[in-house]
This record gives sequence, structure tokens and C-alpha cells, in this order.
Amino acid sequence: MKTTISKVNEHVNDTVTIGAWIHNKRSSGKIAFLQLRDGTGFIQGVVVRSAVGEDSFEDVKKLTQETSVYVTGTVVEDTRSPLGYELQVTEVKIIQEATDYPITPKEHGTEFLMDHRHLWLRSKKQHAIMKIRNEIIRSTYEFYNKEGFVKVDPPILTGSSAEGTTELFHTKYFEEDAYLSQSGQLYMEAAAMALGRVFSFGPTFRAEKSKTRRHLIEFWMIEPEMAFMDHNDSLELQENYVAYIVQSVLKNCKIELDTLERDLSQLEKIKAPFPRITYDEAIEFLNNEGFDDIKWGDDFGAPHETAIAESYDQPVFITHFPLEIKAFYMKPDPENPNVALCADLIAPEGYGEIIGGSERIDDLELMKQRYKEHDLEGPAYQWYLQLREYGSVPHSGFGLGLERTVAWIAGIEHIRESIPFPRLLNRLYP
Ligand code: 4AD
Ligand code: MG
Repeated sequence: MKTTISKVNEHVNDTVTIGAWIHNKRSSGKIAFLQLRDGTGFIQGVVVRSAVGEDSFEDVKKLTQETSVYVTGTVVEDTRSPLGYELQVTEVKIIQEATDYPITPKEHGTEFLMDHRHLWLRSKKQHAIMKIRNEIIRSTYEFYNKEGFVKVDPPILTGSSAEGTTELFHTKYFEEDAYLSQSGQLYMEAAAMALGRVFSFGPTFRAEKSKTRRHLIEFWMIEPEMAFMDHNDSLELQENYVAYIVQSVLKNCKIELDTLERDLSQLEKIKAPFPRITYDEAIEFLNNEGFDDIKWGDDFGAPHETAIAESYDQPVFITHFPLEIKAFYMKPDPENPNVALCADLIAPEGYGEIIGGSERIDDLELMKQRYKEHDLEGPAYQWYLQLREYGSVPHSGFGLGLERTVAWIAGIEHIRESIPFPRLLNRLYP
């Protein structure tokens, strides 16, 4: 019977056939251990010479890394393996023999691995990261469906910019100018007025010349937008959402977290509510910590975010940033119009900002004033203004960067490993 490694627990003591690749191998005179992978997981196959016969055993000993095979054998419990099972192999049929696979079990440099990303994805560590990424996506859909949200897909080719014009990817749209989406937010606001509570999940693009371990040129964002929800309602939703995905990964990705040697105690404590500090408090804290370079009106850099995050063991919200350093659509705090009803969520352990969000301006006149100040009076933004003209309501939303969240939860050093094919400064290949 054909099965997959993820389902061997349903076939204990049965004979099964699995389509797989030879991940690794070691052998002695009488016994060979095959590390097999099939995409769903990893299992050890044990080949005993006396059981398969001399000729077959010699063939098994010659198997090379990444050769594709059909392996037949009996599933037995094995408490020493992370999976809990191993395969007592009776037959190995080669599909295609791979010779000189470039990524060997020895150490390789990052550039070499990045050049071979199409193959590197097969490694145990990369496999674990992709499974965790998938679990975050799956539990995101589960969370928003439970909360009554509708998934809406904003366009990727746009005529306007949501987050300022300096980081836009320009392209031609026949005779017109167009840009790759930096954020679906403006469209999600329109959708929230039609469907109440909506979320999007899609690629976004930032032509940022940053070469850091937190920046991608192309990344995926989850953007919820909620009618009739204010800043505080939104923060509550954000902390419940982030706690939900962390707990889902803990529950459903045990083997993968183990592969990555993730410190589980760091994740187990992630529970709502999260601490909140204002931007003013953050500046004061940083000045007291010896960061003399930062003053009111500056944006935080990575070292600042890390210093703030280190004083908490939960993600922390920094709220009420100066209006002038935030996007045009953010609602000013009625109690202090110099600051916005907004928050960034900073992940623990130095992973930086994973969410940016705010309550949106709902007043037509104030929005018109912002258009003047930000030079947005061209035709591309007129539709967005109409959302304030026809039945405007308080509403809030936010964007969670998927790859930074994956990097944090998986506990990996660099964001480039959190996406299958990263687009980085100087890397558009493979
Ligand atoms: O803070 P940002 O720029 O917010 C927005 O785009 C809002 N319009 C979202 C909204 O309110 N609907 O980006 C949101 C998140 C950041 O917190 C970060 O996690 C991620 O997107 N992000 C990046 N991730 C990887 N590489 C980059 N260059 C990123 N820029 C932002
Ligand atoms: Mg931001």
C-alpha cells in the first residue's frame, strides 16, 4: 500500500511503499541506515543484508544522495526517532539516480546555498521552516474565519501608494504608470465598508535599499481591516491573533521546532494580553538606557527595538507615534493631536517590528487636509476619499509581516530563510 511518511502512524506493522529521496545514508557490512524524505517528513529506513539478500544490499550501499526511490518496508515503532517510527526495508526501487548532488552534508557558505536555493529547500532545516510558515498561514485563515472575517484580495498592480512614494516599484501599465503594491490597506478599507471585517494575504513590494536580516524586497503581508473598531479594539485583536498562531505552531509543528532546536519556553509564554508602552515612554526608556542619539520625532532603528523588546518576555506594543513620522491615513489622538492612534508590535528576542497598524482617519475634512499636506490630490486617490464621504465609520486595521513572524517563531537568524525564494537587494535568482 502506498503511503506517506506523515501517515506511517496509521500503518504500524503493515508493509507500505513510500515515494522518497535518499537524504543521507550510512552503512556497515551487514546493515544500512537510509535517511529518507518524501516532503511530508523524514524517516529512517533500516536495510538488513540477511533480509534483502546480497545483491540488493550491495545496490542499497551504492545509493547516492537525492536519488529518488520507491521504498517498500514494514513500519515499526521506534521511540528514539523524533517521528516515533522507522521502516524495516524489504525493497528499494530506483526512480532516478542523482549523482554529485551539490549540497552535501558538510557545511556550505550562505552565498552558495542561496545560489542553490531551489535545492537547498530540500534540507531538513529549510523543510522545517517552510512547514512552520505553512502552519502560520493555516492558523491565520482559521483564526480570521472563526472571528467572522471575509478574505478579500486587493490588487497588486496599483496606481497609488499606501506607505509613501520612496519605496515604490515602478512599472508601465500600457501607457500609464503603475506600481507594485506596498500594502493592500487602502483597498482593504474599501472592502471593510462593504463586508465589515476583512483580511488579505498577499505579496507586497518595497524597493528599499536595505540590506539587513529583517528586510526583503518582496514579502507577504496579512492585513485585517475592521469597520466599527477603534485603536484599542484593534490591539486586542492583534494580541489574540499573534498568541493564536504561536500556540498553533507549538501544537502542530513539534517535530519542526525540535529540528530547529527552538527554545520552546520562549514561545510557550506568549499569551494575550501583551504589554503596551507609548512612544514617549519608549524614548524616555531608551535615553535612560544610554541611547543618547534618539530624540522625540525620530523613528526607531533595530538596536532601539531590540533594547525595548529585551525588557519584556512578550511581544510589546509601542503606541502613539508622532504623526509626522507615520503614514497620512493615521488618525490623530483626540487627546494629543501630535501623535497617532497607532501601534507597532515588536517581537521578542530581537526580531523587530512584526505588525504596523492604526485607527484610520474617518473625517472627510481632515482627510482632505492630509491630501493637501501629502500632495495626494491627483486622480489616483479620489476613490479613497469617497470612503469618507459616503457613510464613514470609525475603523482600524494592521499589517503583519509574514516572514518576520516566521523568522521569530522558527527562531532563525535571517529573514532570507523564511520565504521559499527570497528577493533581496542584489538577488533575483533563483
Ligand atoms: O509597517 P508597515 O509598512 O505597514 C503597512 O504597510 C500598513 N499599511 C499595514 C496596514 O495597516 N494594513 O508594514 C507592516 C509589516 C511590518 O510590521 C513588517 O512586519 C512587515 O510588514 N514589513 C516587512 N517585512 C519584510 N521586509 C520588509 N522590507 C518589510 N517592510 C515591512
Ligand atoms: Mg511599520
